[in-house]
Amino acid sequence: MTFTLREDSALLKPVTVGGRTLANRVFMAPLTRTRAEADATPSELAATYYAQRAGAGLIISEATAVSKSANGAYLNTPGMYNDRHQQRWAEIAEAVHAEGGRMFVQLWHVGRMAHPDISGGETVGPSPVAADLMARTATGKKPLPVPRALSTGEIAGIVADFRAAARRAVDAGMDGVEIHSANGYLLHEFLSDVVNRRTDAYGGSPQNRARFTAEVVEAVAAEIGPERVGLRISPGNGAGDMSEVDEVSAYELLLCRIASLGIAYLHVLIEPSQPAFAALRTQWEGTLVLNTPREIDSDFGLLENLADWGVISAAAVGRAYLANPDLIDRLTAGAELNEPDPTTFYAPGPAGYIDYPTLSELAEPRSA
Ligand SMILES: Cc1cc2nc3c(=O)[nH]c(=O)nc-3n(C[C@H](O)[C@H](O)[C@H](O)COP(=O)(O)O)c2cc1C
Repeated sequence: MTFTLREDSALLKPVTVGGRTLANRVFMAPLTRTRAEADATPSELAATYYAQRAGAGLIISEATAVSKSANGAYLNTPGMYNDRHQQRWAEIAEAVHAEGGRMFVQLWHVGRMAHPDISGGETVGPSPVAADLMARTATGKKPLPVPRALSTGEIAGIVADFRAAARRAVDAGMDGVEIHSANGYLLHEFLSDVVNRRTDAYGGSPQNRARFTAEVVEAVAAEIGPERVGLRISPGNGAGDMSEVDEVSAYELLLCRIASLGIAYLHVLIEPSQPAFAALRTQWEGTLVLNTPREIDSDFGLLENLADWGVISAAAVGRAYLANPDLIDRLTAGAELNEPDPTTFYAPGPAGYIDYPTLSELAEPRSA
């Protein structure tokens, strides 16, 4: 596949995000690569992988757990909750900055998507409603358990975990963090009017369903400054067996509540024809990053048009960056894009991770 961005394409223009000028508006979407060490320290190869992709206006890292109990949906996903993790993330930040890149770390709690065989602990969520999915554990596929509903005290503890992880990310030299409130993980589960059946201050009305994500954004913004905070949402996205009858109200309330904070960006994973996109786009006056859902390959023509019209501030693309470390160069030149290989998305080791060739390496292959 090829696509040539026009010379005057808005996607190739710099954009100011949270007071920083980024070189272009084609961001790297967060991509879990399951190559972390058993103690959730990012892989030693991660610095190379991310530095290779420093041409992205902004790199958003793979989802990263805010505590040990926040992890456990997949084997070998990283964390940001101890000194060893922080040290490895610091090496990654340094490598990306050395190549002129900018990077935010995506922070998550996996909620009801955790399996005890992976997490080593109990599976929790807003309400005892299981995801009808199988987890890939070290000993085979197993159904996800019915989660235990979190107490309000535990919710406050998780808000504090996000805050502490964000502090570590910035102390590691990262440019900021993205709060993961999308794709069926804990914060998205609270936003949903189907999965969240609580009757306390965190369930029921759209305000109540938006409360947990709002509190996390506020706490993290207070800790590291709003200009270092992004938020990812995916209204109506069915990942993680998630469903929402009302795809709009809780998100509108969430955006109302956080609007005055002035965070770096709102990142929406949505098909632009969904009614929720128009509703939220009209409402959000800040920087808006769009990523289209995973069934649809990035349509660069659509993204270019939306950026030219000022509908979006930037586009985030996932698999195209996974397979093309020099994606911006290729889109500028209209060069053939490497095809991503799904068999190595979640495989261990360097294959399919740090060995996708750049254009110049194709012209002059790496020596053995
Ligand atoms: C291998 C893989 C890993 C992913 N990991 C994450 C993740 O950690 N956090 C997240 O928010 N989305 C994750 N996603 C979703 C992507 O960010 C993105 O929304 C999706 O791939 C669609 O964009 P694309 O067509 O440009 O790839 C992942 C997708 C893929 C293919």
